[in-house]
Amino acid sequence: MLGQDFVRVTEEAAIEAAHTMGLGRRKHSDQVAVEAMRREFDRLPMAGRIVIGEGERDEAPMLYIGEELGLGKGDPEALGVDIAVDPLEGTNLCATGDPGAVTILAAAERGGLMHAPDIYMDKIVVGPTAKGQVHLDAPVAENLRNIAKAFDRDVEDLTIVVLERERHEQLICDIRQAGARIRLIGDGDLSAGIAAAVRGSGIHSVMGTGGAPEGVITAAAMRCLGGEIQARLTPLDAKQRARVAALGIQDVNRLRHTEDLAPGSDIVLSSTAVTGDRIMEGVRFFGGGSRTSTLYMSLAERTIRFIDTIRQDDDSTPVRF
Ligand code: FBP
Repeated sequence: MLGQDFVRVTEEAAIEAAHTMGLGRRKHSDQVAVEAMRREFDRLPMAGRIVIGEGERDEAPMLYIGEELGLGKGDPEALGVDIAVDPLEGTNLCATGDPGAVTILAAAERGGLMHAPDIYMDKIVVGPTAKGQVHLDAPVAENLRNIAKAFDRDVEDLTIVVLERERHEQLICDIRQAGARIRLIGDGDLSAGIAAAVRGSGIHSVMGTGGAPEGVITAAAMRCLGGEIQARLTPLDAKQRARVAALGIQDVNRLRHTEDLAPGSDIVLSSTAVTGDRIMEGVRFFGGGSRTSTLYMSLAERTIRFIDTIRQDDDSTPVRF
């Protein structure tokens, strides 16, 4: 696996997206991140293949599912890598300058990441402390009791992240009734899931329905961080069911565990903060350069790195930060 080479991919995408922060142009922010990611992927010595990206070939000009990338494109001898990207998670957050927008990718050996369609998924995410203590189909109060027990604290001392959506009315009600605290977020259940697996983030679990692609990337992160995601695809109509079938996914209603979503043994993940979140600072610009914070993890190396990068724009400008 290429390892830390992928860090530059999310860093460059984050820098480009950060230049558009607060402009109120979510699609534009996403587009510049996509372009930067693609450019950087094409510099890597690999035969990369997008398994989760910006959509189907006919709806996305770049980073579409099945797109081949890298210097080894088309070379059967080159290192084959499957890639899942969310070039800008939290496009709205970037457009408004709110915290929580990140650029993120997971990469694995061929077949190491599930090819998930862009539909919804019911999810529950916990970090290593509460791993094995929850069940997607268990009542909310029971899961909360078990998470609290694992953390050796009262349910009242837990913070659960939920996307603020109408569809979560009942879930929010159940969590409140059980007595746990809730952090409602506008977007970004993927980086919230990662935060749940980092002690000190103040987040104990993420619950609710969000994007399936985000679920697969969360699973890649959980493999590296020792946490857990349980999920179930929830196609809303016949068209979405057809998309699931077209990807060869059997048994759509099956509960999927972390290893089902990200079965690889050589998984790496890189996430760079655009606007900053609970564990990383957003991109900072200074005269002639920028500074980024990236969370990089590798399953095979058993490493988690917080990478603080200062980048100089050109040779002529001295670095001032
Ligand atoms: P974008 O990255 O496309 O902005 O989506 C962010 C996100 O909030 C995800 O984190 C989440 O899984 C999904 O959208 C939820 O979808 P919806 O906004 O349709 O509820």
